[in-house]
Amino acid sequence: MAQYVMQKSPALHGEVRVQRSKNAVLPMMACCLMTEECIDLAGVPKLTDVDCMAALLSDLGATVTRKNDEMTLCGGGLNGWQAGHNWVERMRASVLVMGPLLARCRKARLNFPGGCAIGTRPIDLHLKGLSLMGASVALSDGCMEARAQEGLKGANIYLDFPSVGATENIMMAATLAQGTTVIENAAKEPEIVDLAHLLERMGARISGVGQSTLVIEGVEKLHGAQYTPMPDRIETGTLMLCAAATGGDVLLMGADGSSLHAVIAKMRECGAVITAQDQGIRVRGGELVGVDVETLVYPGFPTDLQAPMMALLCRAEGTSILTEHIFENRFMQVPQLRKMGASITVRGRNAIVRGVMELHGARVAATDLRAGAALVLAGLTAEGHTTVTDIAHIERGYVDLAGALAALGAPIARVE
Ligand code: EPZ
Repeated sequence: MAQYVMQKSPALHGEVRVQRSKNAVLPMMACCLMTEECIDLAGVPKLTDVDCMAALLSDLGATVTRKNDEMTLCGGGLNGWQAGHNWVERMRASVLVMGPLLARCRKARLNFPGGCAIGTRPIDLHLKGLSLMGASVALSDGCMEARAQEGLKGANIYLDFPSVGATENIMMAATLAQGTTVIENAAKEPEIVDLAHLLERMGARISGVGQSTLVIEGVEKLHGAQYTPMPDRIETGTLMLCAAATGGDVLLMGADGSSLHAVIAKMRECGAVITAQDQGIRVRGGELVGVDVETLVYPGFPTDLQAPMMALLCRAEGTSILTEHIFENRFMQVPQLRKMGASITVRGRNAIVRGVMELHGARVAATDLRAGAALVLAGLTAEGHTTVTDIAHIERGYVDLAGALAALGAPIARVE
């Protein structure tokens, strides 16, 4: 099992190019199921989640070819509607093939997603929307089988919670439905805006992009398209936090600050100096002070950066309260950070962090993608050696976190 070995880092310095967004690319890949033509995506990050989605799509008969970071996905050869194996268990985002399969084949079969480390993560809102559009969903031996014999029809759908995945699944399905679909209380994350832009390039008719009410007018067919996904705002935020935590001066090339206002605001409150430049975002660290953070749906502070932010606050002066409003169990990094000397008290959805003068290196385990990234950040600021195990979690979402940090001067390496 691969792991990261590291020591306390000097202030990070230099520049590194950020990757493109995992959470934009995954639904974009699923769009190939809705056309007989091909989609060309540029800048596709080399991630295990992307490999998993490519394998799932190939299982369904799509052809997925990759040349460096260019990926071509062709849905012409689609010959299946049953996603075999246990894709959803392996990767939650697999559920994003349901809407496209229903739109194209009028049926879809997928394992029912189990919970995962950060919460039960139900898909009731996905199923509510697809059912309102005419799909009947049967659950049997851990599988969901959705069918829409007469094809999907436009519907008015209210999302009880602005779920990112449910918005994406329903929006994709609605592009080929008969009639108009209105999604109220839709999620507004930048990745959804990016997905809508690809769908529009494919011939979809969507209005209200980036707003809470999306109106999708169904069309007969979608055609192929070329697209370059947005920069990964969560990888960007992770590297920004690492730069600030080490008191460094780092330029993140290709980073887009427009999707990170909440993160930039909170980091400035902590004492970091952040400037948006033409080439990207420049981050300089300083004496950091504690701040309170609440994770909210976009444009609030993203839940995916709660754990890395907590790791930075462990060394900030004073007390911080982090409130996790999105997932019910997203403090998995806490016991690991405590092993490094952090002073954190969890009370339900709140984590009270008392800044300490020193963290000490330890052998810690990544429990999920972003908790793992938090442990790497903590290791950069801890005295002595830190080993982060189970980094397969981290490699689901970061192309080469250790490589990016080493390029900025961090004494970190990936070892088998
Ligand atoms: C997406 O997950 C992201 N994943 C997550 O990133 C991210 O944390 C999350 O959005 C929130 O921003 C991808 O885009 C692939 P949700 P998703 O549906 O779509 C509840 C990462 O680290 N809910 O917005 O699964 C759910 O239980 C990953 O890159 C329902 O109740 O998130 C959760 O509490 C982790 N019913 C909340 O909504 C539903 O039908 C947010 O979930 C769907 C969701």
